[in-house]
Amino acid sequence: MNAKLWLSALVAYFLFFGALLFLVAHFRDAEATGPAQPIAFSHPVHIDTVGLECNHCHRTADRSRHAGIPTVEICMECHASAATDRAEIQKLTRYWEEEREIVWERVHAVPWHVYFAHKPHIRAAVECRTCHGDVEYQPRIRQVRSLKMGWCVACHRDREAPTDCWVCHK
Ligand code: HEC
Ligand code: HEC
Ligand code: HEC
Ligand code: HEC
Ligand code: HEC
Repeated sequence: MNAKLWLSALVAYFLFFGALLFLVAHFRDAEATGPAQPIAFSHPVHIDTVGLECNHCHRTADRSRHAGIPTVEICMECHASAATDRAEIQKLTRYWEEEREIVWERVHAVPWHVYFAHKPHIRAAVECRTCHGDVEYQPRIRQVRSLKMGWCVACHRDREAPTDCWVCHK
């Protein structure tokens, strides 16, 4: 074989693997983002840029089973005046004017036969990030822990929290 042929074989080889790597990265990324939401709400923007704490929006984590999803009213406390020139905020404003709640795509859920409550965990100072990862790096919220029984029980053992079956299966 002459040098030219070798060279084009080499180029083809790199192009092929380049394309393969690109595809793998692409699909890995797609897997690493959560579902699209009716409004392109961003945790990174509200936590890093705006500087909000979680409980500004998730208000009931320390006192109830659910952390709570904010109402449109909470958004409008700022967005009646903030960033009103942007398309997603105009969409948000229409929900407000039409008195419609936003139906957010649910990301985390344990099956019906499992009892999970936020309150005892927040009271025991388990941090949000332990179970939800760093949401300030998740433009779309995604599930980062398995939420399987083994995961719950392993931490309960470590932290000397109860491991009787009925604690989580009422
Ligand atoms: C400005 C309001 C706001 C702030 C501040 C905020 N969130 Fe959220 N959060 C939302 C909204 C709206 C949703 C639903 C849409 C979505 O999933 O992006 C949500 C969804 C979530 C979900 C997914 C819920 C599900 O469907 O399973 C988690 C987990 C979460 N937030 C954690 C946090 C944590 C941890 C913090 C603080 C570091 C935080 N959030 C701060 C508004 C907020
Ligand atoms: C405490 C004030 C505050 C609250 C509460 C708040 N936001 Fe924001 N939000 C902001 C500010 C300020 C910006 C602009 C940040 C920037 O880009 O500089 C912003 C940006 C946005 C953007 C990005 C707009 C774009 O296209 O760039 C969206 C979408 C948004 N907010 C949706 C929401 C929703 C939905 C809620 C309620 C769940 C909410 N916000 C609650 C202050 C707030
Ligand atoms: C011990 C693990 C753990 C910790 C700590 C935790 N979460 Fe959760 N979170 C979960 C699980 C599990 C679910 C799904 C619960 C279900 O299906 O009822 C969930 C669901 C949610 C949801 C959606 C449903 C709801 O409850 O409103 C939001 C929002 C949320 N978490 C926010 C937070 C925030 C904010 C914090 C910190 C203040 C936090 N979580 C701390 C495990 C945890
Ligand atoms: C990172 C550690 C950790 C993880 C993960 C975790 N827990 Fe817990 N859990 C705790 C701690 C700590 C307590 C508080 C125990 C106490 O009050 O002494 C607790 C308490 C509880 C309680 C209340 C127990 C009581 O005293 O009645 C329930 C119910 C519970 N967890 C369910 C779950 C379920 C279901 C999961 C998985 C979906 C889970 N936990 C995951 C650490 C964890
Ligand atoms: C700390 C919380 C916790 C405790 C304690 C716990 N479980 Fe679970 N269990 C879960 C969660 C979360 C799931 C659902 C996720 C999964 O299937 O792993 C589950 C699922 C199950 C399932 C269904 C499995 C399947 O494949 O669908 C069975 C059966 C079960 N648990 C039995 C038990 C028994 C028996 C005990 C006592 C020895 C126990 N659990 C203790 C959290 C717990």
